[in-house]
Order: sequence, then structure tokens, then C-alpha cells
Amino acid sequence: MSRLDSFIRRLQAQRDVLNWAMEAIGDKAGLVLEIGLGNGRTYDHLRSRLGPDRIYAFDRANNANPRSYPPADRLILGEFAETLPAFATTHREGAILAHSDAGLGDPEANARQIIMLANVLPSLLAPGGMLFSDQKMDHPALLPQPMPVPIPPDRYFMYIRT
Ligand SMILES: C[S@@+](CC[C@H](N)C(=O)[O-])C[C@H]1O[C@@H](n2cnc3c(N)ncnc32)[C@H](O)[C@@H]1O
Repeated sequence: MSRLDSFIRRLQAQRDVLNWAMEAIGDKAGLVLEIGLGNGRTYDHLRSRLGPDRIYAFDRANNANPRSYPPADRLILGEFAETLPAFATTHREGAILAHSDAGLGDPEANARQIIMLANVLPSLLAPGGMLFSDQKMDHPALLPQPMPVPIPPDRYFMYIRT
């Protein structure tokens, strides 16, 4: 498969997963977390349906396309290891949906990041809250789910907060 094919498949998988998640949320109220704002593509997709008020986006810096800037008070800048635990202490209700797209190119740094995220994400989610992650996570409070949409294996992982 060419890199272009692979890139297209990745974006299609993201869109299918996020569409399913937003459909599953329905009209339920609750916070939504975008962990890894990046260019802002997936943030913008979530915002197009859920609106900007309930979505908090996290990244170490705002490198988003200006059309995808979150409102200033919904953008949390800094290292995940600091911003995510701090957010959890001030938003104890937890999120009903978190989308984590934070994979790193360096395998060792990525492995450390996955452990950190898996440890902090349960405190950011409400019981029953959904997590979609580009990385496989292992934590007793994150119950692995079968992928609800047909996407290539291991491209996304779904968990429910116990
Ligand atoms: C793959 S990009 C996200 C792409 C985004 N979902 C989109 O559709 O445009 C991952 C982002 O996570 C951020 N990131 C990765 N590790 C981080 C960390 N430890 N703390 C803060 N931000 C981090 C990077 O800066 C990068 O912008």
C-alpha cells in the first residue's frame, strides 16, 4: 500500500470512528475531550456536530489551522502530563467522550506516553464515558470494546470507562 493510500485510510478511519461516537452520544449532555489538537482536523469534525462549547482541546502548542482554533477558554496548552491531571481535578464530572490522537514517532517515547495517558485518562472520563485512541491502552478502568465500525485492525481502539 502506498503512503497516500495509508494516509487516506487513516483519515477515513478517524472520520468513521468519530461519526459513530457522535451518533452514540446523541443528545446526551457532557464534556468532550480532543487530546492532540494538531492541525485541528478531527477537532473541527467534532465541533461541526457538537458545537464548540463542550469540547476541550489539548496540545503542547497551538499549531492548528486558524479555521480550527478552539475558543481560547477551551484550548489547554502544555504537556499532557501536566494539563490532563490538572483538568481532571477541576472537571470532576468527567467527559462522556475523549478522542486521543497523540501517537509519537519515537517508539520509546511513545511507549512512555501511552502508559502516562492510560493512567490519567480514567480520571478524565465519566463512568461509562467512551475513549477512542490511536494507541492501545492498558488500564483496569478502561474496558476494551470491539470496534463499532469496520476499519483496518489496530488503527483505533475503543474503551469504556468502568
Ligand atoms: C497526530 S497530532 C493530532 C492531529 C489532530 N487530531 C488532527 O486531526 O489534526 C498529535 C498532537 O499531539 C500533540 N502531543 C503529543 N504528545 C504531547 C504531549 N505529551 N503533550 C502535549 N501535546 C502532545 C502534538 O503536539 C501533536 O500536535
